[in-house]
Amino acid sequence: MDDDPVVETGFTSRTAVEPPEPFVEQANVDESDVAAFDASWPECWRRAADLLEWETPTDEVIDRTGDRVSWFPDGRLNAAYNCVDRHLAERKNQAAIKWVGKRGETRTYTYLDLYHEVNEFAAALRSLGIEADDVVTLYMPAIPELPVAMLACARIGAPHNVVFAGFSAQALAERMDRAGSELLVTCDGYYRRGNAVHQKNKADNARIMASQEVSDIVVVDRLGDEEVHLGDGYHDYDELVADHHGAEVEPVTREADDELFVIYTSGTTGQPSGIRHTTGGYLAHAAWTSHAVLDLKPDDTYWCSADIGWITGHTYLVYGPLALGTTTMLYEGVPDHPEKDRVWELIERNAVDVFYTAPTAIRAFIKWGADHPDAHDLSSLRLLGTVGEPINADAWWWYYEHVGNGECPIVDTWWQTETGSILVSTVPGVDEMKPGSAGPPLPGIDATVVDETGESVAPETGGYLTVTKPWPGMPLDLPADGEPDDEDWRYVTEDAARIDDDGYVTVLGRIDDTVTVQGHRLGTMELESAIADVEGVAEAAIVDVQTPGGGSTVHAFVSTDEGHKGVDGLRERITANVERTIGSFATPGVVVFTPELPKTRSGKLLRRLLKDIASGQELGDTSALRNPEIVGEIESALDGE
Ligand code: WTA
Repeated sequence: MDDDPVVETGFTSRTAVEPPEPFVEQANVDESDVAAFDASWPECWRRAADLLEWETPTDEVIDRTGDRVSWFPDGRLNAAYNCVDRHLAERKNQAAIKWVGKRGETRTYTYLDLYHEVNEFAAALRSLGIEADDVVTLYMPAIPELPVAMLACARIGAPHNVVFAGFSAQALAERMDRAGSELLVTCDGYYRRGNAVHQKNKADNARIMASQEVSDIVVVDRLGDEEVHLGDGYHDYDELVADHHGAEVEPVTREADDELFVIYTSGTTGQPSGIRHTTGGYLAHAAWTSHAVLDLKPDDTYWCSADIGWITGHTYLVYGPLALGTTTMLYEGVPDHPEKDRVWELIERNAVDVFYTAPTAIRAFIKWGADHPDAHDLSSLRLLGTVGEPINADAWWWYYEHVGNGECPIVDTWWQTETGSILVSTVPGVDEMKPGSAGPPLPGIDATVVDETGESVAPETGGYLTVTKPWPGMPLDLPADGEPDDEDWRYVTEDAARIDDDGYVTVLGRIDDTVTVQGHRLGTMELESAIADVEGVAEAAIVDVQTPGGGSTVHAFVSTDEGHKGVDGLRERITANVERTIGSFATPGVVVFTPELPKTRSGKLLRRLLKDIASGQELGDTSALRNPEIVGEIESALDGE
């Protein structure tokens, strides 16, 4: 413990922090709730289900007798009804969505406005032939029409397939094909740091590339300043909604286990895999964790800075907060435009109560300087959250002091696209916080760290983070080990972690072949093949290299056919191909040309060695290499970067 780094605040990373008393007094969940929850698995999860309104309430909490685990198996409900209609009686004039556009525009949808817009767009979808179980692809930036379209789909029982707006035409086509989606909702374009991104052009190209026929494309007019040509099969969003003005669509009754949406994520394979989340279990878990971990109350103004295109945006920008009747903010812009205090200005102006962001954003805030948050009145804040990567202790303390003024608990929430909702975090009004460690598995969640043979390891020993009991937010096709009713049923998370004597989980990072690019999870194979496909490239290896202040930079090591450096604009062609196949957000931070990649005698690529070289680590024994001389060449190529 003594050699723990002492950060600038004078605290060590192991200093435990008690939740501030004023917070504890008003917290949604207290110690007795946690004790009751822990004592009664699986019945405890009824409490999550009770946060929703069911058309047919559930008798059973869990059914493990079929070929998969089912939550609330005999319950029936509609997700859009739960996120919109049922709040009308008490809060129809309260803001549901507060939108801040890139150019400073604002738009507020009350729950009543949201009700109308969702109904009208649901009627429009029906008029285009969409029925329950048809998949609808949504490809939009952070504009209100995106959550409206998600809820309109949910209302008629059509699973949505949201594709992050930064993905390329090819990536979009792939995701539409895999999901079997015939309808696409997109926009004409949007501005990114002052440049127009022609979203519709990408959608047009995806329509041509897709093998499945995309019969209709709905286009939202976001730019508003130019005439957009809409050919055959294209529809203007505003006209469609106007055509269905005043329409009301009966919410379609769904079984708890019916699919609410599909979202694609990167894993060990080269192909993105579709994760299908359920209507009942997912929504109950999203609502419960928004209540218990983010401590959301209906009166709150809450800001989750994630993009809706990723799971965090689905669960904690749209479904969780709206299920609880909260005001959720949707911000289209970037955090440093027009000034580097943009985030703090928005928190102050909107009196945000709860702010949920990612460590990568916090590290950028730290770089820009504490003067920015310090210059604003952030006293409306009650709770802060982080998600997506481990947060280093220094960043934690900075966030605690400069944003939370030492008065807001921080929840460091661990979860994944596959888990649907948060599984590991402190309960903010109950547990002490340990900066750098996410916290214990939440009440009702069982997790352990195991070694290669599947045995639990001793405290403080690294291993594979494994969830040992099902949870309501689990997807339909979770790659779990064991039969649903097995004592040994488990889900291995692909994360390395260790657990301390108090049961706190410290996440160490992914163990599979994925990397995090600007907070987004991508497969190394997806990136490597996008690079290897470029003419002149022989082979590529992608590794994530830790940077000193926490965080990481993706390095691409590239060997060329001719064995020489990036000639003929090779570097530019690599960037262009990554942009074409995945999207410009995925471009590696560093590209290093090398005559060969380091390989063992049996031809196995040594990614770990590349990582050590790039991070300036002491290199171990390199005698297993077929080409040990390559190490020096790579080192000098890196020096030239
Ligand atoms: C990582 C994002 C450390 C982890 C919700 C996980 C974290 C992957 C944390 C999932 C955290 C998420 N501390 N690491 N609090 N939260 N991760 O699917 O490696 O985009 O497996 O879901 O992010 O990424 P995904």
